[in-house]
Amino acid sequence: MSGSSDRLGPLPAFLGTDARQPVAWVRMPTGDEMWVVSDYTLARIVLTDPRFSRAAAARPEAPKFNTANPSRNSIMSMDGSEHTRLRRLVNGAFTPSRTAAMTRYVEELTDRLLTEVAETGPPADLIASFATPLPIAVLTRLLGVPLEDGEQFRTRVEMLFDITFSTPREKAQHGMALVAYMTGLIERKRRHPGDDLISALIAAQDGGALSSEALLHLGLALLMAGYETTVGQLGLAALWYLTEPSLRARLDGGEVSGAIVEELIRLTPAASVSFPRVALEDVRLGDVTVRAGQAALVDVVHANRDGQVFPDPGRLEADGRATAHLTFGIGPHYCVGAPLARMQVRTALSRMIARFPGLALAPGPDAVRWKDGLTTRGLTHLHVTW
Ligand code: HEM
Repeated sequence: MSGSSDRLGPLPAFLGTDARQPVAWVRMPTGDEMWVVSDYTLARIVLTDPRFSRAAAARPEAPKFNTANPSRNSIMSMDGSEHTRLRRLVNGAFTPSRTAAMTRYVEELTDRLLTEVAETGPPADLIASFATPLPIAVLTRLLGVPLEDGEQFRTRVEMLFDITFSTPREKAQHGMALVAYMTGLIERKRRHPGDDLISALIAAQDGGALSSEALLHLGLALLMAGYETTVGQLGLAALWYLTEPSLRARLDGGEVSGAIVEELIRLTPAASVSFPRVALEDVRLGDVTVRAGQAALVDVVHANRDGQVFPDPGRLEADGRATAHLTFGIGPHYCVGAPLARMQVRTALSRMIARFPGLALAPGPDAVRWKDGLTTRGLTHLHVTW
């Protein structure tokens, strides 16, 4: 199955093109300069070699590629043993039984949302009616946000991610409100624990493993990392299905296999770049030397299409590939939520296809609109008919 690169939509200028040097020195939208790595093998070094530090990249003086960076207290801004300790706690709280319960929940929720789509359309905007409400409900359930708070919580998260075009001031206010909400939620969970991730982390915290502040930052990190990315990935996978006839021929009446989901996530990644790392000492990266103090980030879009490790890289291999893609990163900061995200994409796509056999892009030039995000790829709307 082939895939054309125009389906990638607009990419940030600093990502360059397929013809770019494997490691290029690039000026970022902030004016800071850093190395952008699009060679798959070298990209893995940036993500796994401890000489490349996230903690150093989170310091105020470090080069930045945009203005929205994980807080210095985030799990994403830690290195070494501090990071490993926190990561072990989070992994321990993502138990197989919790994941199994989430699968059942995602199936029910997907069917409910698709019923609403069927009742109100055609046409329908798959982003507003399907790709957005699914991940927020999943995160709400995962974190143990009570049902009655769901609407308030959802509004704040959406405002924060600018889905409703809020001003920077409003965004900051919603950010602060979300911090206040999460603090209150942690307090309530401490008094009345439930079967959710926050309660499991509090249990770990009360054993002395996690400070209150670390817990707050972890709750926020899960939210920040798990929402916009998943909305993006659901919309991008649906777009690929709608515009790639050979994929469609294979999936209609068939099964959306794990291998196909993995290929979709490789070919059209919701994360276009990794977070930058700062070199703690001089590091040789292919033909260049990254000097101590300089930053490097991974161009996920092009690394995932590196022909040296993915033969015929634009082709969707229905049986999967031997090499892991970098959409969820790799190494110590590998995405905690990857299984949850994969499960949502697979469930959403397979149930959507089964429910709407005649699904097609709505007629007209405006059916697909790409969002401008620098780091997260996705659509602001995807109008469909059936
Ligand atoms: C398709 C959806 C998703 C994509 C594309 C994605 C992508 C990524 C990537 C690329 C990283 C590593 C960044 C780096 O090393 O620079 C990451 C880390 C992370 N992700 Fe995801 N993610 C997704 C969904 C989720 C979900 C659903 C959750 C939570 C439920 C989540 C939680 C996290 C957390 C907490 C980290 C930081 C891990 C650490 O620092 O050890 N992500 N994600």
